[in-house]
Amino acid sequence: MTDHLFTCDSLTYHRFNLNEEEFKIITNLVSQHLSEPYSIYVYWYFINTWPQYCYTVKDEGKIIGVIISKINNHKDVRIRGYIGMLVVQDDYRKRGIAKKLVKLTIENMIKDDKVDEISLETEVINKGALRLYESLGFIKTKRLFKYYLNTHDAFRLILPISEKSFKRIAFLKH
Ligand SMILES: CC(C)(COP(=O)(O)OP(=O)(O)OC[C@H]1O[C@@H](n2cnc3c(N)ncnc32)[C@H](O)[C@@H]1OP(=O)(O)O)[C@@H](O)C(=O)NCCC(=O)NCCS
Repeated sequence: MTDHLFTCDSLTYHRFNLNEEEFKIITNLVSQHLSEPYSIYVYWYFINTWPQYCYTVKDEGKIIGVIISKINNHKDVRIRGYIGMLVVQDDYRKRGIAKKLVKLTIENMIKDDKVDEISLETEVINKGALRLYESLGFIKTKRLFKYYLNTHDAFRLILPISEKSFKRIAFLKH
Protein backbone atom coordinates (compact mmCIF):
# COMPACT_ATOMS: atom_id res chain seq x y z
CA MET A 1 0.00 0.00 0.00
CA THR A 2 1.31 3.49 -0.81
CA ASP A 3 0.15 6.90 0.35
CA HIS A 4 -1.33 8.93 -2.47
CA LEU A 5 0.08 12.47 -2.53
CA PHE A 6 -1.34 14.09 -5.66
CA THR A 7 -2.43 13.44 -9.24
CA CYS A 8 -1.03 15.27 -12.27
CA ASP A 9 -1.68 14.58 -15.99
CA SER A 10 -3.60 11.47 -14.87
CA LEU A 11 -0.49 10.05 -13.17
CA THR A 12 -0.57 9.51 -9.41
CA TYR A 13 2.33 10.42 -7.09
CA HIS A 14 2.83 8.38 -3.91
CA ARG A 15 4.94 8.15 -0.79
CA PHE A 16 6.26 4.60 -0.59
CA ASN A 17 4.92 2.55 2.27
CA LEU A 18 7.21 -0.48 2.67
CA ASN A 19 5.28 -2.87 0.47
CA GLU A 20 7.32 -5.96 -0.49
CA GLU A 21 5.86 -6.39 -3.97
CA GLU A 22 6.43 -2.72 -4.84
CA PHE A 23 9.92 -2.89 -3.33
CA LYS A 24 10.79 -5.54 -5.94
CA ILE A 25 9.26 -3.48 -8.77
CA ILE A 26 11.24 -0.43 -7.70
CA THR A 27 14.55 -2.29 -7.44
CA ASN A 28 13.96 -3.81 -10.90
CA LEU A 29 13.14 -0.43 -12.40
CA VAL A 30 16.27 1.18 -10.95
CA SER A 31 18.59 -1.68 -11.86
CA GLN A 32 17.35 -1.64 -15.47
CA HIS A 33 18.05 2.06 -15.93
CA LEU A 34 21.03 2.98 -13.74
CA SER A 35 24.47 1.74 -14.72
CA GLU A 36 25.61 1.21 -11.12
CA PRO A 37 24.65 -2.26 -9.81
CA TYR A 38 23.30 -1.63 -6.32
CA SER A 39 22.93 -4.56 -3.93
CA ILE A 40 19.57 -5.28 -2.34
CA TYR A 41 21.02 -4.03 0.97
CA VAL A 42 21.63 -0.58 -0.48
CA TYR A 43 18.00 -0.28 -1.58
CA TRP A 44 16.82 -1.60 1.77
CA TYR A 45 19.10 0.75 3.70
CA PHE A 46 17.65 3.78 1.91
CA ILE A 47 14.01 2.73 1.76
CA ASN A 48 13.75 1.22 5.22
CA THR A 49 15.57 4.07 6.99
CA TRP A 50 14.02 6.98 5.09
CA PRO A 51 10.68 5.70 3.68
CA GLN A 52 9.46 9.31 3.82
CA TYR A 53 11.91 10.11 1.01
CA CYS A 54 10.95 7.39 -1.43
CA TYR A 55 8.30 8.51 -3.93
CA THR A 56 6.73 6.60 -6.81
CA VAL A 57 4.71 7.69 -9.84
CA LYS A 58 2.04 5.39 -11.20
CA ASP A 59 0.02 5.12 -14.36
CA GLU A 60 -3.20 3.24 -13.63
CA GLY A 61 -1.54 1.62 -10.61
CA LYS A 62 1.66 0.62 -12.43
CA ILE A 63 4.92 2.16 -11.16
CA ILE A 64 6.63 4.14 -13.95
CA GLY A 65 9.01 6.32 -11.94
CA VAL A 66 10.77 6.46 -8.59
CA ILE A 67 13.07 8.65 -6.52
CA ILE A 68 14.97 7.37 -3.47
CA SER A 69 16.79 9.71 -1.08
CA LYS A 70 18.20 10.05 2.41
CA ILE A 71 19.36 12.59 4.98
CA ASN A 72 22.64 12.75 6.82
CA ASN A 73 24.55 14.97 9.16
CA HIS A 74 27.43 16.20 7.02
CA LYS A 75 30.61 16.51 9.09
CA ASP A 76 28.51 17.54 12.12
CA VAL A 77 27.91 21.00 10.72
CA ARG A 78 25.24 20.74 8.03
CA ILE A 79 22.11 18.68 7.42
CA ARG A 80 22.58 17.28 3.96
CA GLY A 81 19.89 15.61 1.88
CA TYR A 82 21.11 13.12 -0.69
CA ILE A 83 19.28 11.93 -3.80
CA GLY A 84 20.41 8.36 -4.35
CA MET A 85 18.38 7.07 -7.28
CA LEU A 86 16.00 8.59 -9.81
CA VAL A 87 14.44 6.74 -12.73
CA VAL A 88 11.55 7.40 -15.10
CA GLN A 89 10.58 4.62 -17.50
CA ASP A 90 11.60 5.37 -21.13
CA ASP A 91 8.15 5.91 -22.63
CA TYR A 92 7.23 8.48 -19.94
CA ARG A 93 10.33 10.68 -20.24
CA LYS A 94 10.50 14.40 -21.13
CA ARG A 95 7.09 15.09 -19.62
CA GLY A 96 8.38 16.73 -16.45
CA ILE A 97 7.89 13.67 -14.23
CA ALA A 98 11.46 13.52 -12.88
CA LYS A 99 11.35 17.26 -12.21
CA LYS A 100 8.20 16.80 -10.12
CA LEU A 101 9.83 13.97 -8.14
CA VAL A 102 12.95 16.02 -7.42
CA LYS A 103 10.87 19.08 -6.43
CA LEU A 104 8.75 16.93 -4.09
CA THR A 105 11.91 15.62 -2.43
CA ILE A 106 13.43 19.09 -2.08
CA GLU A 107 10.23 20.58 -0.62
CA ASN A 108 9.79 17.83 1.95
CA MET A 109 13.47 17.83 2.95
CA ILE A 110 13.27 21.57 3.60
CA LYS A 111 9.97 21.33 5.45
CA ASP A 112 10.57 18.22 7.56
CA ASP A 113 14.35 18.08 8.04
CA LYS A 114 15.42 21.71 7.54
CA VAL A 115 18.22 20.60 5.24
CA ASP A 116 21.05 23.06 4.58
CA GLU A 117 21.81 21.54 1.18
CA ILE A 118 21.01 18.59 -1.06
CA SER A 119 23.63 16.62 -2.95
CA LEU A 120 23.86 13.84 -5.52
CA GLU A 121 26.22 12.35 -8.06
CA THR A 122 25.61 11.63 -11.70
CA GLU A 123 27.76 10.42 -14.59
CA VAL A 124 29.48 13.24 -16.45
CA ILE A 125 28.00 11.87 -19.68
CA ASN A 126 24.40 11.92 -18.36
CA LYS A 127 23.37 15.14 -20.09
CA GLY A 128 19.66 14.64 -19.38
CA ALA A 129 20.16 14.30 -15.63
CA LEU A 130 22.61 17.23 -15.55
CA ARG A 131 20.17 19.47 -17.40
CA LEU A 132 17.34 18.44 -15.09
CA TYR A 133 19.30 19.11 -11.87
CA GLU A 134 20.93 22.32 -13.09
CA SER A 135 17.52 23.65 -14.12
CA LEU A 136 16.51 23.24 -10.46
CA GLY A 137 19.53 25.17 -9.15
CA PHE A 138 21.98 22.34 -8.44
CA ILE A 139 25.62 23.36 -8.99
CA LYS A 140 28.50 21.10 -10.06
CA THR A 141 31.00 21.15 -7.18
CA LYS A 142 33.37 18.25 -7.88
CA ARG A 143 34.43 15.86 -10.58
CA LEU A 144 35.01 12.38 -9.15
CA PHE A 145 37.51 10.41 -11.21
CA LYS A 146 36.30 6.90 -12.18
CA TYR A 147 33.64 7.09 -9.49
CA TYR A 148 31.40 4.39 -10.93
CA LEU A 149 32.10 0.70 -11.41
CA ASN A 150 31.78 1.19 -15.18
CA THR A 151 34.83 3.53 -14.73
CA HIS A 152 32.88 6.65 -15.76
CA ASP A 153 33.60 9.86 -13.90
CA ALA A 154 30.86 11.52 -11.87
CA PHE A 155 29.95 15.10 -11.09
CA ARG A 156 28.84 15.86 -7.56
CA LEU A 157 26.10 18.47 -7.58
CA ILE A 158 24.85 20.48 -4.64
CA LEU A 159 21.71 22.54 -4.19
CA PRO A 160 22.56 25.15 -1.55
CA ILE A 161 19.58 25.99 0.65
CA SER A 162 20.64 27.70 3.87
CA GLU A 163 23.43 30.18 4.61
CA LYS A 164 25.44 27.30 6.09
CA SER A 165 25.78 25.75 2.68
CA PHE A 166 27.72 28.78 1.46
CA LYS A 167 30.21 28.78 4.36
CA ARG A 168 33.43 26.81 4.58
CA ILE A 169 33.22 23.95 7.05
CA ALA A 170 36.12 25.38 9.10
CA PHE A 171 34.00 28.48 9.85
CA LEU A 172 31.04 26.39 10.97
CA LYS A 173 32.89 24.44 13.69
CA HIS A 174 32.56 25.71 17.25
C1 LIG B 1 17.17 11.51 -16.17
C2 LIG B 1 15.68 11.13 -16.13
C3 LIG B 1 15.32 10.75 -14.69
C4 LIG B 1 14.86 12.36 -16.58
O1 LIG B 1 13.49 12.04 -16.47
P1 LIG B 1 12.37 12.88 -17.22
O2 LIG B 1 11.06 12.61 -16.54
O3 LIG B 1 12.45 12.63 -18.67
O4 LIG B 1 12.83 14.37 -16.92
P2 LIG B 1 11.91 15.67 -17.03
O5 LIG B 1 10.92 15.48 -18.13
O6 LIG B 1 11.37 16.02 -15.69
O7 LIG B 1 12.98 16.73 -17.50
C5 LIG B 1 13.37 17.84 -16.71
C6 LIG B 1 14.34 18.70 -17.48
O8 LIG B 1 15.49 17.96 -17.89
C7 LIG B 1 15.62 17.95 -19.31
N1 LIG B 1 15.94 16.60 -19.77
C8 LIG B 1 15.48 15.45 -19.27
N2 LIG B 1 16.00 14.41 -19.98
C9 LIG B 1 16.77 14.97 -20.95
C10 LIG B 1 17.58 14.45 -22.00
N3 LIG B 1 17.69 13.13 -22.21
N4 LIG B 1 18.26 15.31 -22.79
C11 LIG B 1 18.19 16.65 -22.58
N5 LIG B 1 17.44 17.21 -21.61
C12 LIG B 1 16.75 16.39 -20.81
C13 LIG B 1 14.27 18.31 -19.84
O9 LIG B 1 14.36 18.92 -21.09
C14 LIG B 1 13.74 19.22 -18.79
O10 LIG B 1 14.26 20.51 -18.97
P3 LIG B 1 13.27 21.77 -18.95
O11 LIG B 1 12.65 21.80 -17.57
O12 LIG B 1 14.21 22.89 -19.22
O13 LIG B 1 12.28 21.50 -20.04
C15 LIG B 1 15.36 9.95 -17.10
O14 LIG B 1 15.88 10.24 -18.37
C16 LIG B 1 15.92 8.61 -16.64
O15 LIG B 1 15.27 7.88 -15.89
N6 LIG B 1 17.15 8.29 -17.06
C17 LIG B 1 17.80 7.02 -16.68
C18 LIG B 1 18.21 7.02 -15.22
C19 LIG B 1 19.04 8.23 -14.89
O16 LIG B 1 19.93 8.63 -15.64
N7 LIG B 1 18.76 8.80 -13.70
C20 LIG B 1 19.46 9.95 -13.19
C21 LIG B 1 20.71 9.50 -12.55
S1 LIG B 1 21.19 10.61 -11.30
